[in-house]
Amino acid sequence: MIEDRIKELMDLRAKARVGGGERRIDAQHKKGKLTARERIEILLDPDSFEEFDMFVCHRCIDFGLEQQTYLSDGVVTGYGTIDGRLVYVFSQDFTVFGGSLSEMYAEKICKIMDMAMKVGAPIIGVNDSGGARIQEGVKSLGGYAEIFQRNILASGVVPQISAVFGPCAGGAVYSPALTDFTIMTKETSYMFVTGPKVVKTVTNEDVTVDELGGAVVHGTKSGVTHFIADDEEEGLLLIRKLISFFPQNNLEEPPTIPCDDPIDRLEDSLNHIIPENPSKPYDVKDVIHAIVDHAEFVEVQRSYAPNIVVGFARFNGMPVGVVANQPEYLAGVLDINSSRKAARFVRYCDAFNIPVVTLVDVPGFLPGTAQEYGGIILHGAKLLYAYGEATVPKITIVLRKAYGGAYDVMGSKHLRGDINYAWPSAEIAVMGPKGAIEILHSKELKEIEDEEARAKFVAEKEQEYREKFASPYVAAKFGYIDDVIEPRNTRFRIVRALQALQTKKDVSPPKKHSNLPL
Ligand code: HXC
Repeated sequence: MIEDRIKELMDLRAKARVGGGERRIDAQHKKGKLTARERIEILLDPDSFEEFDMFVCHRCIDFGLEQQTYLSDGVVTGYGTIDGRLVYVFSQDFTVFGGSLSEMYAEKICKIMDMAMKVGAPIIGVNDSGGARIQEGVKSLGGYAEIFQRNILASGVVPQISAVFGPCAGGAVYSPALTDFTIMTKETSYMFVTGPKVVKTVTNEDVTVDELGGAVVHGTKSGVTHFIADDEEEGLLLIRKLISFFPQNNLEEPPTIPCDDPIDRLEDSLNHIIPENPSKPYDVKDVIHAIVDHAEFVEVQRSYAPNIVVGFARFNGMPVGVVANQPEYLAGVLDINSSRKAARFVRYCDAFNIPVVTLVDVPGFLPGTAQEYGGIILHGAKLLYAYGEATVPKITIVLRKAYGGAYDVMGSKHLRGDINYAWPSAEIAVMGPKGAIEILHSKELKEIEDEEARAKFVAEKEQEYREKFASPYVAAKFGYIDDVIEPRNTRFRIVRALQALQTKKDVSPPKKHSNLPL
């Protein structure tokens, strides 16, 4: 009887939907966490989810596991839509063997990754797992590597986003690390290569789970996570928002949306935002908010290396990546962390055809042994490389300082910058006046013994230097700056530049792959 068969199907579906059972679902909720399926419901458009492999079970017959099987085997997979656009999803189910990864579980994830690659759609993974399923041994390790391999092949082809909403430990951390963006929840997630107990045994350090790999640590110190969400719902809605800026894959353009924010809106405040005193800070985010559509800016890695600001916004509905030095923090200097942060961001934008708008106010690279020993040469080179390699439209505005190597690095004309503007307040030179005077006039300075006379001499020379070099006009004279623009007109000039660059094509020499300094 077909009715019986259909009832059997419904019963099996109902059984799969409760994962590891009500008791474990309650435990999950008590921890402030949602279940794998509840997460998918928030992430995707209503009723758009099509699930695969609900009836998959593990094949392990060791440790009595043959007596314990759960339909779906601890991960929910399939596809659905976000604002009507196709995405593939996997969501790990902590209620089944602690979300631990088995051979079949990995096969389920690989299946949807392969399908996403075939059709060119983003992949979103929600991680909440105790790692390799211990009973399955090397099969589980193999499963992880199969996923890593797909993460690598998908990198730069389809956007990949990882949510970490629970444990993510051991080798399991490398899948999120290989994807484009990671989001962690504040109280309930952690990521580390080895847990506190192993740390204690090996290094004798006492450290809590949170201190070792909580969201705050990865959002501020390591830069492993790009976003920290207060709760899972906020994290899932953030993924929806991010997807709205991205194309489906590297062969498509990012989606433009209708815009009712006037493109020729003049922002008078910008004419006065740069303080008279060149060493006084201001918040570059005020500039960003003033020029982008509806002041909407999705900042990436907000609390990590805040001396550079990166994130997504729109101009006349067109998605862009914004990179801006932040004078409010360490005077906007480039250091190891800010170089890595911005380099990765520029490379993401370039991979997915998202134009890059750069706002420059940088006094140079951070000096010191800590930076040199840490390899600032290589890390700074990453950012330089990222800009020089990028073929997307690149628009750069020098707001104030663009000194030394940092001038070159920050989207300069010489690194295939397409349209380079400067505000009248721009100072483009090899170094700041103070340093320059000390070097250029070291002999004279040694000879002046009187303090007052010395200060007067320095002030005069600094003024001379400032007038000659610390302006946009020397660079503009050589065509390194295409125009000096009135600050309040910046939005309009960027919108026009983006329109003019829409059909831009640029190529790099054929190669197997580049050898980015690492
Ligand atoms: C099988 C596992 C499991 C695992 C948890 N469980 N982790 N089963 N393999 N790795 C099961 C538990 O037996 C339990 O089953 C249920 O999941 C929930 O676990 P609890 O311990 O009760 O939950 P909680 O107290 O919240 O602790 C969560 C945890 C802890 C911190 C994740 O379970 C834990 O430490 N697990 C082991 C983590 C680990 O060492 N994994 C291997 C890492 S190495 P019942 O039946 O009671 O519900 C690795 C290598 C990957 O992953 C390499 C890739 C290259």
